[in-house]
Amino acid sequence: MTVERTLSIIKPDATHRNLTGKINAFFEDADLRIIAQKRLLLTRQQAEAFYAVHAERSFYGELCNYMTSGPVVVQVLQGEDAIARNRQIMGATNPANADEGTIRKEVGVNVQENSVHGSDSPENAAKEIAFFFSETEIVG
Ligand code: CMP
Repeated sequence: MTVERTLSIIKPDATHRNLTGKINAFFEDADLRIIAQKRLLLTRQQAEAFYAVHAERSFYGELCNYMTSGPVVVQVLQGEDAIARNRQIMGATNPANADEGTIRKEVGVNVQENSVHGSDSPENAAKEIAFFFSETEIVG
């Protein structure tokens, strides 16, 4: 087991419904530590840059609209196998396909408004953490 860090985003559908604390409890109950956290209104430029990997997808424009439609909470989670563990806790991208007990099953709305984002690899975790946080903002 390796102690890892991963980037998490609590998305606008969840902040709108005041679910930040409820979602954070999923992380902490699974031994993931929130070692950095801030609430932001993403600019269009930030949303487009963060999701640039999806730029050719049909849903890219709508995704950027949605991600700038309200506050997000960006976080660094730390723990053993944090990247895979967080993805397990989140559940499948589409809440309709997510396992019972996962965040997306419990609170996700649809494939776009799926309440949370989590990095999918160590390389992307490092990039995504650096996108939002400087080293001095991360206190493990
Ligand atoms: P996320 O894990 O943040 O990664 C990309 C995001 O795009 C995804 O969560 C959803 O919010 C969104 N997304 C993925 N697939 C679709 C889809 N088929 N239609 C609309 N939005 C999608």
